Amino acid sequence: MTTRTAPGRARSLSEVPGWFRAIDQDLFRVLLETTGRTPGDLLEMGCYLGKSAILLGEHLREGETFTVCDLFGVESHGLYSRRDTLAFYRETLTREAFEANYLNFHEDLPVIVHARTTALASRIAPGSCRFVHIDASRTYEDVSGDIDIARSVLRKDGVVAIDDYRTEHVPGVAAAVWEAVFTKGLRPVCLSAAKLYATWGEPEPFQQAVRAWATDRVDRVVVDEKIDGDPVLRVLNALPGPSGARRLALELLPPVVSRALVRPKTGR
Ligand SMILES: C[S@@+](CC[C@H](N)C(=O)[O-])C[C@H]1O[C@@H](n2cnc3c(N)ncnc32)[C@H](O)[C@@H]1O
Repeated sequence: MTTRTAPGRARSLSEVPGWFRAIDQDLFRVLLETTGRTPGDLLEMGCYLGKSAILLGEHLREGETFTVCDLFGVESHGLYSRRDTLAFYRETLTREAFEANYLNFHEDLPVIVHARTTALASRIAPGSCRFVHIDASRTYEDVSGDIDIARSVLRKDGVVAIDDYRTEHVPGVAAAVWEAVFTKGLRPVCLSAAKLYATWGEPEPFQQAVRAWATDRVDRVVVDEKIDGDPVLRVLNALPGPSGARRLALELLPPVVSRALVRPKTGR
């Protein structure tokens, strides 16, 4: 979480509060450019103070619509997975703060749906979007519904990014994501530590774009994995210097070998 800067005062994206990591900013850029070869709309479920929305807005082209949806701190039974999460949002989040941050980077606001994400089903035209970011509620029921909305509003070669797909304290997100992969035809493209990127179309062209981007980056690494026989890319940070090499070895080697690498040295 970035330290607080007054709404509308950030000089760069890194000063906008939020949890949107640099590696995901990179992946958003690659996938937004790839999907942007044909016009289509953008949708974000859960915008908080605008960190990821500001980046999405950078990729909005002439004639496309960008919609964000958030509760902006409004309480309603069962909307948040945890009471402490709701208390945190009430203290830090207002629609005005989101708007001030967004307008600090862009001339026009996106379309704002100030409601639960369930309201989107009747607001966004089926097949109209090229990119959807799911980053709102963390309950299984809500995320499963959000994925269903994404499936309906995305065009076939669109991409969905889903936050917290493997975070320990929000198991409902993982449940909804893997349910979609195994029963709703969702096909993973790549994974970062925080987000899963997937499509209901062909993952391969997006995976090619991710590989092409990674070849020019010494600070990022792409590792090939498979899920039930289908290729998926794991994208991670490469730390510079010898510790980077060790970290990479730990990430890439099979568990038995990597356990040997982390075993503490015994005195002789
Ligand atoms: C993790 S934050 C989003 C972070 C933001 N995408 C970023 O990268 O900075 C989650 C947001 O989802 C909103 N939210 C939670 N449950 C929601 C729901 N059921 N419908 C709409 N918004 C919701 C919260 O108000 C909060 O602003």
